[in-house]
Amino acid sequence: MEQLKSQIAKNPVPNHIAVIMDGNGRWAKLKGKPRIFGHKNGITSVRQVIEGCAEIGINYLTMYAFSTENWNRPKLEVKTLMALLVSSLKKELKTLQKNNIKLNTIGNIENLPKKAQIELAEVIEKTKNNSTLTLTLALSYGSREEIVNVIKNISKKVVNNQLNVEEIDEKIINNHLYTFSLPDVDFMIRTSGEKRISNFLLWQIAYAELYFTDTFWPDFRKENLFNAIIEYQNRERRFGKTSEQIEKINE
Ligand code: IPE
Ligand code: IPE
Ligand code: MG
Repeated sequence: MEQLKSQIAKNPVPNHIAVIMDGNGRWAKLKGKPRIFGHKNGITSVRQVIEGCAEIGINYLTMYAFSTENWNRPKLEVKTLMALLVSSLKKELKTLQKNNIKLNTIGNIENLPKKAQIELAEVIEKTKNNSTLTLTLALSYGSREEIVNVIKNISKKVVNNQLNVEEIDEKIINNHLYTFSLPDVDFMIRTSGEKRISNFLLWQIAYAELYFTDTFWPDFRKENLFNAIIEYQNRERRFGKTSEQIEKINE
C-alpha cells in the first residue's frame, strides 16, 4: 500500500474523481444473499474510497449513490437504501470531522424521505467549514433532469430580462448546474463491469478519463482506487490538442 502511495505521489492526482458504485446486487447474489446485503457491504467500500482520496490529496470526490431511475426499483429495496443512508450519515459524521471532509449533495434532494433530508442537512451544516476533501453524494440524481432544470432556470431569467440570450455561455450553464461549486470531473470510475454512464454528470465529464473495472462495488478497496489512479496518471490528456503540444506544455 505504501508503495502504491509513493508511486502516486510522483505525479499530479486528479482534482475531481467521480465514482459510479455499481454491482452490489450481483455481488450479493453470488453469495446467495438478498440484494440489500450487497448494499450494506458497499458501505465499507465507500469508507475505503473516501479515506483513500483523503490520504492522497484528492480535493473533490463525487459518489453516485442513488439515481432518478433507481426510484423504479422494488419498494422495499428503495426503503432499505434510504434507511442505510440515514444510519451511515449518523455513523460517519465522526470520520468526516476527523478527516476534515466537507459533505455536499447533488440531485433532487426534496424527493428523499424527510428523515434523510434532515440528516443530510445536519451533516452538511456540521462539516461546512472542513476543507481537505469535498465529498458530494449524488442522491436522486439524474443528469438529464439536472440539464432540464438548468434550461428552465436560465429561460426564466431571460424572460424576466435578468439575462440576455447572447450572454448564455458555458460558464453560465455551469453556474446553474447542481455542481456549480465543483470543478469538472477529471476521472470517472465505474465498478461491476458495466460500460455505461447511466445518466451521471453528462455535462461535467466532457473531458474526464473513464475507468471501468470488473470488480463489484462491495469488493472495491483502497488498493483498487490507487491502482486506478496510477492508470489515470499514465494517460495523456490532450483536450483536443496534439501529443507534441502537450509535451511542450509539460516541459
Ligand atoms: C449499485 O449496485 C447500487 C445502487 C444503484 C443503489 P446495484 O444495486 O445496481 O447492483 P447490481 O448492478 O444490480 O449488481
Ligand atoms: C447507476 O447504477 C446508479 C448508481 C450507481 C447509483 P445502476 O445499476 O442503477 O445503473 P444501470 O441501470 O445498470 O445502468
Ligand atoms: Mg447496478
